[in-house]
Amino acid sequence: MTVLATIGAQWGDEGKGKLVDEIAARTEYVVRYQGGSNAGHRVVFDDNEFSFHLVPAGILHPSVTCIIGNGVVVDPRGLLGEMESLRKMGVDLSRLLISERAHVVMPYHFVLDRLEEESRGDDKIGTVMRGIGPAYVDKYSRVGIRMADLLDVDQFRAKLASVLAQKNRMITQIYGQQPLSLEEIHTEYVGYAQRLAPHIVDTQIVLQKAVGEGKPVLLEGAQGSLLDIDFGTYPFVTSSSTVVGNAAMGAGLPPRSIDYVLGVYKAYITRVGSGPMPTELFNGEGDALREAGHEYGTTSGRPRRCGWFDAVVGRYVARLNGLDSAAIMKLDVLDAMPVVKICTGYKLGAQVIKAPPANLNDLAACEPVYEEWPGWQTSTSDARTWEDLPEQARTYLKRIEELLETPLAVVSVGPGRGHSIYLRDLPF
Ligand code: IMP
Repeated sequence: MTVLATIGAQWGDEGKGKLVDEIAARTEYVVRYQGGSNAGHRVVFDDNEFSFHLVPAGILHPSVTCIIGNGVVVDPRGLLGEMESLRKMGVDLSRLLISERAHVVMPYHFVLDRLEEESRGDDKIGTVMRGIGPAYVDKYSRVGIRMADLLDVDQFRAKLASVLAQKNRMITQIYGQQPLSLEEIHTEYVGYAQRLAPHIVDTQIVLQKAVGEGKPVLLEGAQGSLLDIDFGTYPFVTSSSTVVGNAAMGAGLPPRSIDYVLGVYKAYITRVGSGPMPTELFNGEGDALREAGHEYGTTSGRPRRCGWFDAVVGRYVARLNGLDSAAIMKLDVLDAMPVVKICTGYKLGAQVIKAPPANLNDLAACEPVYEEWPGWQTSTSDARTWEDLPEQARTYLKRIEELLETPLAVVSVGPGRGHSIYLRDLPF
């Protein structure tokens, strides 16, 4: 087995960064395959805290090659800033490769993300304003600019001139704002291209060779399955496909090369931005989760909406991704809770349903049906084996495993490397 995909199994922020950092120690390649700098993966290591937006979290391991795949949309300015801060912390970035086919997030994407969001009024999506939606729109409208285009100065200018004329019409005529300058963008982005050029390659060839040689490859998902463009709470979703069906495509690998899918859940659930969230807590319990779990956005700093573990969407995501196993992160955040709850169904009118409805008004009307379990009210931070966990915590986890119909492979009890319990072998 060589290719393992980690998938966010809720609305993002499940703790994928920490898990990827731990598993990456045993791999040779870590690949981001979708999203962009809307992602925020946090890793705590040696008393240092690292935040990743575009650079794969595996970069902290000196022997790992990190790849930003074709399915990612890349903001070159943000990426160079991130690379610079990592360099200052002593990280070697010569092992970072960027796909020639990855699309570039341009200045007008940032502007339009903001203007479009403002124009939505009460229907705001709550985007992180990193230009992600508009960049994917251009990709599918076939007017996107790719990393390969940036390297060809003349072709870049011609493409930019054509697309910028169209964008400036929107910016000035629809939104009444100032147009952007072709010269300024061209000069700025040619500069970025020169600095990034040594990293820009045909990454799928590198990966296909690695897989052919049986080398371990980790595909690092960003956001979560409930933010998926098809299967999430549309339209309150991100603009890429976050489920495993897209992982091979965004990396440039054949779908059958993925051997193992690991779903990453938190022991409770959070969401940032708008959209229905059946188990959201509006009381002191929600505040307690937010404070204990430091639930503030890595990218936006926004307080996250917090709620009890939702096994209805949890099982939906497990089935959608065909999970081989699940990781439950941040169990320690529940340590002080006198009671812990799991949502096992939604009450919709007179019925109790076991899968989330596609109709968003129906989802918003769903009331969670809870099971209550006694809390353990003792610290789990030092637990390193299943037996170290208090009995109530084991009962809680066993019930989650049953409801997800997926074996648990990892339980995380703290932010640092090694603050984890591995319950079964992963492929590497
Ligand atoms: P966008 O991806 O910036 O367009 O934002 C769309 C929705 O996805 C918003 O609700 C964001 O808060 C959410 N979102 C985007 N990226 C992340 C992430 O990495 N974690 C959690 N939520 C995210």
